[in-house]
Amino acid sequence: MWQTNPGRVSVALTGASGLQYGLRLLHCLVQADKQVLVMISKAAQVVAATETDWQLPGQPQAAEEYLSARLGAKPGQLRVLGREQWLAPVASGSSAPSAMVVCPCSTGTLSAIATGASNNLIERAADVALKERRQLILVPRESPYSAIHLEHMLKLTQMGAVILPASPGFYHRPQRIEDLIDFIVARILNQLGISQELMPAWGEAWLQQGLQEVQGHPQE
Ligand SMILES: Cc1cc2nc3c(=O)[nH]c(=O)nc-3n(C[C@H](O)[C@H](O)[C@H](O)COP(=O)(O)O)c2cc1C
Repeated sequence: MWQTNPGRVSVALTGASGLQYGLRLLHCLVQADKQVLVMISKAAQVVAATETDWQLPGQPQAAEEYLSARLGAKPGQLRVLGREQWLAPVASGSSAPSAMVVCPCSTGTLSAIATGASNNLIERAADVALKERRQLILVPRESPYSAIHLEHMLKLTQMGAVILPASPGFYHRPQRIEDLIDFIVARILNQLGISQELMPAWGEAWLQQGLQEVQGHPQE
């Protein structure tokens, strides 16, 4: 029997600022024992080299070895797909993974997905996720947004995609850049239904405190 694989997630890194979000997400997915299919745009390589110490190789096999080593992935756990690898599972609804995240998502890729361009494997995989009504999470980063960006985001939301902007909150009193990154990555993992300890759920501490008080006064 053919079915989607809930233990598999595809992640596309595209050329918006905030490559750190995508790299941290990959790390968390590897730690959560997921099989991860990774797609990397050319612009993502440039952004990664500009804002991190990660030098993502352009050739898929080399990128796979590089990412697997840096993220501590098991053999075969993390696969990097080529930009025109049309025979990859993500390119068809018959064997696509159960969820796809584009993180960060450039406005260029956002536009291509909203219009169904499918000119590379990232765009095609997102198109497949939409047509198959599968989970598609887009993490755009731009400021300010133009009407074009907003229209694309509305359209994609209406088609079932989740727009999860790279806009971290500050109510957890972040001390380090990593705290801001984890705020967003925790939201993505929550969407994927993957348990995480990066950020407590809103109200959870309050609920736990109430529980302790009730347990401390069992007869009342
Ligand atoms: C250092 C750097 C930062 C960039 N930041 C953004 C950004 O925050 N948002 C965005 O939409 N594009 C950004 N761009 C522009 C995109 O990389 C560019 O539009 C590219 O064509 C996107 O291609 P892709 O969608 O195939 O990755 C940035 C480019 C560079 C080099």
